[in-house]
Amino acid sequence: MSPASLRSRLDAATAHLDAPFAVIDMAAFHANAAAMTRRAAGKPIRLASKSVRCRHLIAEALGLDGFQGILAFTLPEALWLAAAGTSDDIVVGYPTTDRQALTRVAADKTAAAAITLMVDGPDHLDLIEKVSAGLPDPQPIRVAMDIDAGYESMGGRFRAGARRSPIRTPAEAARFAETIMSRPRFRLAGLMAYESQIAGVGDDSPGRPLYSRAVRLMQRRSAAELAVRRAAIVAAIRALTPLEFVNGGGTGSLAGTSAEAAVTEIAAGSGLYHPTLFDAYRGFTGQPAALFALPVVRRPGPGVVTALGGGYLASGPGTPSRVPSPYLPAGLRLDRDEGAGEVQTPLMGSAADGLKLGDRVWLRHAKAGELCERFSELHLIDGSSVVATVPTYRGEGQTFL
Ligand SMILES: Cc1ncc(COP(=O)(O)O)c(C=O)c1O
Repeated sequence: MSPASLRSRLDAATAHLDAPFAVIDMAAFHANAAAMTRRAAGKPIRLASKSVRCRHLIAEALGLDGFQGILAFTLPEALWLAAAGTSDDIVVGYPTTDRQALTRVAADKTAAAAITLMVDGPDHLDLIEKVSAGLPDPQPIRVAMDIDAGYESMGGRFRAGARRSPIRTPAEAARFAETIMSRPRFRLAGLMAYESQIAGVGDDSPGRPLYSRAVRLMQRRSAAELAVRRAAIVAAIRALTPLEFVNGGGTGSLAGTSAEAAVTEIAAGSGLYHPTLFDAYRGFTGQPAALFALPVVRRPGPGVVTALGGGYLASGPGTPSRVPSPYLPAGLRLDRDEGAGEVQTPLMGSAADGLKLGDRVWLRHAKAGELCERFSELHLIDGSSVVATVPTYRGEGQTFL
């Protein structure tokens, strides 16, 4: 569909709404889900809820072929999703020190059976034990071990990948597995090794050919190193105890990670909304499904309009790749000095002259679920109409991070 006809369709579907608002184009959402499932090649996708942040759409994705279970981002979120019946298979992807939430898991049989906590060292186990020590009937706590999947070379002087777990080698992993197994309160349910330097870093960044070449080289080496190390870690732990799951990857590595025999499932979610950071991959494309509309509220001069709102920056290193991108009408760009503003956003380019007060401009966020922290609802578009309006986490009064 041409940008002009896409814009007409979106404008027609939302003509009754006053901007700013956010939408999900459900045809794109479903096409993206199907493409993700194909790339996962038969391995289930554990839905990264932080990348969706809308219960309705989490349930929608979990109802599709190929999606199974949730990778939550906080324990209070996991408890909320479990209590709502959204899933009974929730892995919290990051460690927690939330004593209240830990007490709730340890005290509740259903929550304890549904939720797996992430741990990477004895301190995490100590904290959980301490919190639940005084409970009358503490439940067994399911845990998963986080493994450092980062890439290191030159004796550790070069490193790529998120700084997460201190556990890196099969021997370290086996030692910690034995520690977990020696403590009766815990059940080691699975492993996670998330290669953010592959799954979350585009290898084809626009206007940066040398950087992209270096990323591709790093990713090739990292994937080869990790496949061997991850298999050895999994074998070392499986020699001690059975594992329900070995989780790896993300949207940007669905195909590569799923090809590793040692990995049983991939965690991914961003691909459903397909924000701009995921345009920068050579290996796959997606359709922008999550968009937001801003109203044109003034015209400072020729070649520029100013829209209300828009400063919805994405988390991360604070680089230009994290700002929202004007999408429709085609041919608009942010002002270099003002960027996307707290209250208003100037949009430059010849397309600005075709816009009048009250018209809307469509933008894309750099990341996926973070957009939902800005809006309390998402309007779901099917064809040229809004078929439902559903609350985001924020709209349900839930702002976990
Ligand atoms: C542990 C873990 N797995 C997987 C992912 C990938 O998620 P997505 O595909 O939604 O970007 C992330 C994202 O940060 C993550 O932290």
